[in-house]
Amino acid sequence: MLKTCNIVIVGGEGDLAFRKLYPALYSLHKESLLAESSKIVGFGRGKFTPEKFIANMRKWTEESDYVNNVDDESWASFSERVLHFVGDATDPKDIKKLQKEMGDGEIVFYLSTPPSIFAPICKAMGEAGAVADTTRLVVEKPLGSSRESFNDINNTLFETFEEHQIYRIDHYLGKETVQNLLALRFSNIFFEPLWNRHYIDHVQVTVAESVGAGGRWSYYNESGALRDMVQNHLLQLVCLVAMEFPSRNKADDIRDEKLKVIRSLKPIDASNVQTLTVRGQYTEGSVSQKLVPGYLQEKDALPASDTETFVAIKAEIQNNRWQGVPFYLRTGKRMAERYSEIVIQFKPVIFKFIDIDPNAINNNQLVIRLQPNEGVEMKLMNKVPGLSEKTTLQNVGLNLSFEEAFEEHRSPSAYERLILDVTRGDQTLFMRSDELRGAWRWVDGMIDGWETVQQKPQKYKSGSAGPDDALGLLIKDGRKWQDYEG
Ligand code: BG6
Repeated sequence: MLKTCNIVIVGGEGDLAFRKLYPALYSLHKESLLAESSKIVGFGRGKFTPEKFIANMRKWTEESDYVNNVDDESWASFSERVLHFVGDATDPKDIKKLQKEMGDGEIVFYLSTPPSIFAPICKAMGEAGAVADTTRLVVEKPLGSSRESFNDINNTLFETFEEHQIYRIDHYLGKETVQNLLALRFSNIFFEPLWNRHYIDHVQVTVAESVGAGGRWSYYNESGALRDMVQNHLLQLVCLVAMEFPSRNKADDIRDEKLKVIRSLKPIDASNVQTLTVRGQYTEGSVSQKLVPGYLQEKDALPASDTETFVAIKAEIQNNRWQGVPFYLRTGKRMAERYSEIVIQFKPVIFKFIDIDPNAINNNQLVIRLQPNEGVEMKLMNKVPGLSEKTTLQNVGLNLSFEEAFEEHRSPSAYERLILDVTRGDQTLFMRSDELRGAWRWVDGMIDGWETVQQKPQKYKSGSAGPDDALGLLIKDGRKWQDYEG
């Protein structure tokens, strides 16, 4: 039997709440994964009337890619559990009033607000007596812009909550394909024996976006691609690829293993930042046959800015499994395509019993497509059928499309998975303080290095694959980035 768990979205009239959280909650409601008695509270400052609030909620839910159909019956029962609460989340009196209106049950406070007001909100929750041992707090990125500012934010949370109550979201961890990484690695016998420096030549992680920074230019300009994407999403992917088998399938055991990976990352600082990283900034160009402005011409843009919208990094994990295996990471805005994938490039076979086209010898690859066209592809050498005297080999992909293989199953959104886990009290897919501190330490080294050596972003055309030096990062190692194959 499901326990009553009231979910309070602070910042409940904001963009994230409408676009991601309410549609996810509706899906959970429809799948009967929330206790009937659980309330969903949109805690806001009263920007909308109750009618407009509900109408907006429905509009965004209907528009969500993850909601198949909003039917009147389930919408009616869903809206019965919704409470639009207007108040000031930094005022203990309003929190007390909310508690009264919600009634009994465990509480999840989801802070969909800027971190600058986390402190007064948490304080008010404590003063209102709203925080029991079962109360949970969910916080969204950005959690700081450096290790120091992360610690400051984190410490304000610790004044009211303990680590076991805090759920730090990285929405990449909620994606089905990202969760599948561990299943793939640890539930198939043929990967583990090869999953190390003896057989893997290198790993590539690409998270390419076709959108620009427009619409949130000022926020993005303070952050840049390294803080916005690498510190969290890409590093989490690296951890899942590189971590050891956890001793138990428990949140802390998995997070312990991820932390070890983060702590084993070779530091990047002023001494090596120029050889190991490339920064880029997009200029005007065309994406999906549409002309788009450059970063400095976007709405609200300052005429000059050195913020990077693209970054490529050659990372190394200094441990027994991975020593000497580069992990090439890249992410950027306004790239030609939106796609995220991980490529595991295996080493070539040593003994070649037939002549092999030199361009094909390196091609044992495992490609894990995170989005779109989610799936896994294994590239293998095969003999081309035929009677010719000379054997010809060709690299062919064994291609698994999740959509085709799991036709019957709906793929839930990342937020559905994450919110459900919070209601269940499962912290596996959330980041622990020490993981984040470690990730910031690594990223801080690079940012300080860039400042010290004055490494500025290179321009790249919107719709391209990033700056030329990003290609050079691999070419100088005798390698190349995997092209997007759709
Ligand atoms: C967010 C970043 O965390 O992730 C955005 O702040 C980025 O800049 C987004 O666009 C990408 O997420 P997804 O799920 O669209 O790949």
